[in-house]
Amino acid sequence: MQHNIKKVACVGSGLIGQGWATLFAANGYGVIMQDLSEDRLQSAVEQIDLNLKFLKDHGRLQKGRATEASKRIRTTMDLAEAVKDADYVQESVPDDYAAKKSVFKEMDAAAASDTILASSSSGLLMSEIQKVVTRPQRCVLVHPFLPVHLLPLVEIVGGKQTAPETVEITYNLMEKLGKSPVRLKKEVSGYIVNRLQAAVLREAIDLVATGVASAEDVDRAFCTGMGMRDPFIGPFLRAHLAGDGIEGFVEYYSESYRLRWESMAAWKSIPPPMRDPFVKSVNEMAVVRKNSLKKIKNWRDKMLIEVLKLNRSCC
Ligand SMILES: NC(=O)c1ccc[n+]([C@@H]2O[C@H](COP(=O)([O-])OP(=O)(O)OC[C@H]3O[C@@H](n4cnc5c(N)ncnc54)[C@H](O)[C@@H]3O)[C@@H](O)[C@H]2O)c1
Repeated sequence: MQHNIKKVACVGSGLIGQGWATLFAANGYGVIMQDLSEDRLQSAVEQIDLNLKFLKDHGRLQKGRATEASKRIRTTMDLAEAVKDADYVQESVPDDYAAKKSVFKEMDAAAASDTILASSSSGLLMSEIQKVVTRPQRCVLVHPFLPVHLLPLVEIVGGKQTAPETVEITYNLMEKLGKSPVRLKKEVSGYIVNRLQAAVLREAIDLVATGVASAEDVDRAFCTGMGMRDPFIGPFLRAHLAGDGIEGFVEYYSESYRLRWESMAAWKSIPPPMRDPFVKSVNEMAVVRKNSLKKIKNWRDKMLIEVLKLNRSCC
């Protein structure tokens, strides 16, 4: 199997595809990016140049490297051309099985037999997608986080037919890109982070829609309370510290957590009467009222640069 990955194809040039192209090019890989229209490709290339400039301006790419990186990216509307010489393909088309399967089928037909075909899906299962290809052992899920060129985490998980070696090679590639990969032991919808986010978001919506607090205050409570520790302490380390040891946590806090869990939201899709109150409350947040989405995203990326400066190596 191919270990020496040099050429990469990014299929789909939306938010995620352009982030991947930025990351691969900034790390010295030749990238061919494919999408369905010239307009989409052109706007992706413009955003990638802004991403590369941002990385350079914030000391994450040496001077002169941004221009070099930009030149490493070619574009095409022809999927077969994009993947035929690639050692590794990162697919980032819309998140539904029909779209993924159709693209995987085409990629499978055009790519070399040992090329790895990875999907950026944020919730689908590779076991289902890989049913349509002749090389299921070389297909893997690699779930990134926005903005892909800044956030370190990728979740990697194979499907039922994925070869362990494919997961291994992909894991090593992600480490070379400076990512912080985690490997799931088995497939589950939403993987790790989107499940955790879904749990927090359900409770946040419920708190606002049932009149406990405004969206402004829920976000503030998150950011200045639990979120303040989040860059370096996960839920398990937090529990370990809170209980003076995880055994103490289980002993002392089980009852109070039972009361919380019993009174917490358990709905499976947003109840229609809750929709308007929480949407209204989010739109009333000062940051949302006063700033465009573009401005908020730009501010988020600058804040992320500050968080990335933290030395997260453990005590
Ligand atoms: N947006 C996020 O926060 C996020 C985070 C992690 C993973 N993902 C996943 O990444 C994938 C892409 O998401 P996105 O946010 O970039 O979507 P997007 O809508 O921004 O981009 C999708 C792109 O795919 C293109 N496309 C559609 N069909 C195609 C085809 N047949 N061949 C080539 N290109 C095609 C579209 O033209 C579009 O440019 C999805 O699976 C999504 O779940 C998204």
